[in-house]
Amino acid sequence: MKVTVVGAGNVGATCADVIAHKELCNELVLVDIKPNFAEGKALDIWQTAPINLYDTRIKGSTDDYTKTANSDVVVITSGLPRKPGMSRDDLISTNAAIVKSVTENIIAHSPNAIIIIVSNPLDVMTYCAYLTAKIDPSRVFGMAGILDTARYRAFLAEALNVSPKDIQAVLMGGHGDTMVPLPRYTTVGGIPVTELIGKEELDAIVERTKKGGGELVNLLGTSAWYAPGAAAAQMVEAILRDQKRIFPVCAWLQGEYGLNGVYMGVPVKLGRKGIEQIIELKLNDDEMKLVNESAAAVREVMAVLDNMNATA
Ligand code: NAI
Ligand code: 2OP
Repeated sequence: MKVTVVGAGNVGATCADVIAHKELCNELVLVDIKPNFAEGKALDIWQTAPINLYDTRIKGSTDDYTKTANSDVVVITSGLPRKPGMSRDDLISTNAAIVKSVTENIIAHSPNAIIIIVSNPLDVMTYCAYLTAKIDPSRVFGMAGILDTARYRAFLAEALNVSPKDIQAVLMGGHGDTMVPLPRYTTVGGIPVTELIGKEELDAIVERTKKGGGELVNLLGTSAWYAPGAAAAQMVEAILRDQKRIFPVCAWLQGEYGLNGVYMGVPVKLGRKGIEQIIELKLNDDEMKLVNESAAAVREVMAVLDNMNATA
């Protein structure tokens, strides 16, 4: 198995490190446009192999996509991260150009790859990769929901003083402040979370989750990378090991939830073929209203990309 991670910055290098550490593939290629950067990161990660005891061979490449040829899975993290005061949407024009050119290179060398987008604004960069790759949407999707639910689950584990392992949760919508954590689908060791925590405290956790990315941007001066990198690696694992895991993933909707032609977070089954099923929850009216609002927010940014493409 071969995996390529494009962008050897904070998220890409962390993702590559987790993939290597878990020995998810035998060949791992890290690509960056900055001269020698990916080579340096790859060499450093490779030198953890004798310590962490894995065999995955990791190589770096400065913008040379021949080295990525025939990858099974590609993770695209290239692009600018958010700085304090910037919304994810501020990144659109710069990152769209980057995601488009990277996707063209990837498809030219790995026509059968499954592509996972991480670059922000996530839902619209995933749309951009889909328009560029011209492949089935079951093979082009975005990472956000695993990260956003991880934040939600971590906050709940802290509030309830329980193991984060026991918290299961679903979250839908775009990767932004309109995301929709779903308390009705959140359980702790099988117990509905609403039986363990008061409404006010739960509402506060939901609000903190929605602004979870911004909280880290304010603390770090750039966006987070440990949890995002690990989340993308978990998707790679589900695909390469054909695990059929159920995760919230940014997927192309074609009528599911009454939504058509929009990329946003929904629960899916992830396996060797990519998105093998989109799961339709029986949302109540309040939940559906929030999901529709989130879809409308994503569509507004998709329209910005469509207009940019129309005038290009
Ligand atoms: P970073 O600045 O540390 O790394 C980005 C890397 O991309 C840099 O090394 C840069 O040289 C490289 N790059 C730029 N243009 C390129 C090109 N054309 N080809 C190859 N490499 C190129 O940024 P970081 O923190 O790793 O974030 C990466 C992206 O991921 C950002 O857009 C960020 O907003 C997004 N992000 C998304 C998350 C999500 O949940 N979907 C979570 C965290 C970050
Ligand atoms: C995050 O959620 C900013 O998308 C980035 O950490």
